[in-house]
Amino acid sequence: MDDPLIEHAREALAEAHVPYSAYRVGAALRTADGTVVTGCNIENANYSNSLHAEEVAVGTAVAAGHRSFDRLAVSSGVRDGVTPCGMCRQTLAEFCDDEFTIVCDRGDEVATYTLGELLPETITEATLSAVDSENTGSTDGAEPPDEGST
Ligand code: THU
Ligand code: ZN
Repeated sequence: MDDPLIEHAREALAEAHVPYSAYRVGAALRTADGTVVTGCNIENANYSNSLHAEEVAVGTAVAAGHRSFDRLAVSSGVRDGVTPCGMCRQTLAEFCDDEFTIVCDRGDEVATYTLGELLPETITEATLSAVDSENTGSTDGAEPPDEGST
């Protein structure tokens, strides 16, 4: 198995900070200009503060000025074909279209998906702008929602 982006993801997981789960994840994101940006999971004693490898990779790339991506590779230390979780799929959807390719490390092979397969019917900027065209934004005269108090 010689997917070069998977190799980057495997290397990235070496820096994972995983004192709680011991489950390392590495992500490698390829930008439209061919730059590879990596990330690893960074756990926190306040568990919900933990950062996922994919969001670290996206955040690092965006902070460096990248906005256009064509491929993501993900690997865990046990090469189990880990896929980006739901939150990370939505993070990717902010910048990537349905055809964006995601490759997941199964050891001897990769599982290949499109973002559209993993997260159909996502929320995008277009979803939010529909409100502007269908709603004047005025709440004049609007009643607050009935909370069903008894
Ligand atoms: N993890 C990721 O880094 N990416 C995902 O999308 C799935 C989960 C991390 C979070 C946590 O540190 C560990 O894997 C176990 O859930
Ligand atoms: Zn995630």
